[in-house]
Amino acid sequence: MKIAIIGTGYVGLVTGVCFSDFGHEMVCVDKIPSKIEMLRRGEVPIFEPGLDRLLERNVRAGRLSFTEDLAQALDGADAVFIAVGTPTRRGDGHADLSFVMAAAEEIARAARGPIVIVTKSTVPVGTNRRVREVVAAANPDLDFDVASNPEFLREGAAIDDFMKPDRVIVGVETERAARVMQEIYRPLYLRDFPIVMTDLESAEMIKYAANAFLAAKITFINEIAALCEKVGADVKQVSKGMGLDGRIGKTFLHAGPGYGGSCFPKDTQALARIGQDHASPIQLVETVIKVNEEVKRRMVDKLLDLCDGSFNRKTIAVLGVTFKPNTDDMRDAPSLTIVPAMIGGGAMVRIVDPQGRREGESMLPGVEWMTDPYAAADGADLVVVLTEWNEFRALDLRELAGRMACPRMADLRNVYSPGDVRAAGFVAYEGVGRRG
Ligand SMILES: NC(=O)c1ccc[n+]([C@@H]2O[C@H](COP(=O)([O-])OP(=O)(O)OC[C@H]3O[C@@H](n4cnc5c(N)ncnc54)[C@H](O)[C@@H]3O)[C@@H](O)[C@H]2O)c1
Repeated sequence: MKIAIIGTGYVGLVTGVCFSDFGHEMVCVDKIPSKIEMLRRGEVPIFEPGLDRLLERNVRAGRLSFTEDLAQALDGADAVFIAVGTPTRRGDGHADLSFVMAAAEEIARAARGPIVIVTKSTVPVGTNRRVREVVAAANPDLDFDVASNPEFLREGAAIDDFMKPDRVIVGVETERAARVMQEIYRPLYLRDFPIVMTDLESAEMIKYAANAFLAAKITFINEIAALCEKVGADVKQVSKGMGLDGRIGKTFLHAGPGYGGSCFPKDTQALARIGQDHASPIQLVETVIKVNEEVKRRMVDKLLDLCDGSFNRKTIAVLGVTFKPNTDDMRDAPSLTIVPAMIGGGAMVRIVDPQGRREGESMLPGVEWMTDPYAAADGADLVVVLTEWNEFRALDLRELAGRMACPRMADLRNVYSPGDVRAAGFVAYEGVGRRG
């Protein structure tokens, strides 16, 4: 099949590369010329493990190409995927659909049909119908169908998630769209990965409901962690004991500095707004959003306590600023709340992150970027483990403590054992939801 994809971000590029690996002829389109130029040179504009090799293999096989020219990409295409951003709209918390609608209009102008227009971006219920209306109004003669195909990949494990998904969700309203979507996903179908065929509205809702549920699970354990600190329980033990219950499951049950990233914050907000607009408020999700903000503020208080009540003139080494390991994505990362609070309080902040600098430099002004955690700890008053990159999981704690002016650690991902940290010479250790 020939397939075009609009948007070469985390989702669009992974989708394009993986579909081409299935054997489809893929043309990836982006409106940012520098991204297309990089991709044509075989360079990947984002950090996603394994993507560069898979991209190279499929370009070499002649199945994968990149262009700014949508008309050329749509020429003879059976389907076009919209994988553009749907950030939070300024001011009201709704999903900003302007990129999706602009892409729909561009497709209407450039397509010759017959074609299936598939929305992969995360969009509120009713958006696929709006896409259909927009396209039909802009090009009444175009023979097309719409389909909803929300994406569930996780950055950092995106290729595996795409190639071995827990499920694929497809919302359609015509036989023809169902046939094309089945053909596109046939390689997964043959390997027995579940493909759930449903209507447009249910497909759109599944994505928001799944993300809100996961955000709620993280937030639940973060609140339990706060209580653990008060009553002397250890949240790591509590998570383990809870997670072994098959009805609960052990994933997304790790206490930390609050959820962040390109999806959970904006999708919980959008779902809350959809509920309010339909006079069916989702109070649980509204509370999750509020509590997550409190969790981040609680982390700042924790760091302040470790700094004897003042950040002023303290040197603080922060290990990890991306919202999770194995990605360069900084969108809504907890570091964007925590680091400015330290800087605002007068601290000198040094940051080490294996991939975060390129994006983080403009978002975190006033910090010093370093590459070596030990050098960052030289003369420091506090080291903060903020993102659990593998590089920070097995540090030589004695060496780290020995270099610091005052060896104190805030381990906001509960990577280390409090006993080991103290035995290495640290005078203070604070995890999340555990005895210090
Ligand atoms: N990032 C994730 O982990 C993830 C996971 C699942 C779902 N999603 C959803 O997928 C969608 C895309 O997310 P992302 O993180 O890949 O976004 P992104 O911001 O990384 O990428 C979007 C890309 O689309 C391009 N673009 C926008 N309008 C265009 C147009 N008219 N023509 C050509 N290119 C255009 C932009 O230049 C950009 O390169 C969002 O709705 C998001 O919620 C993201």
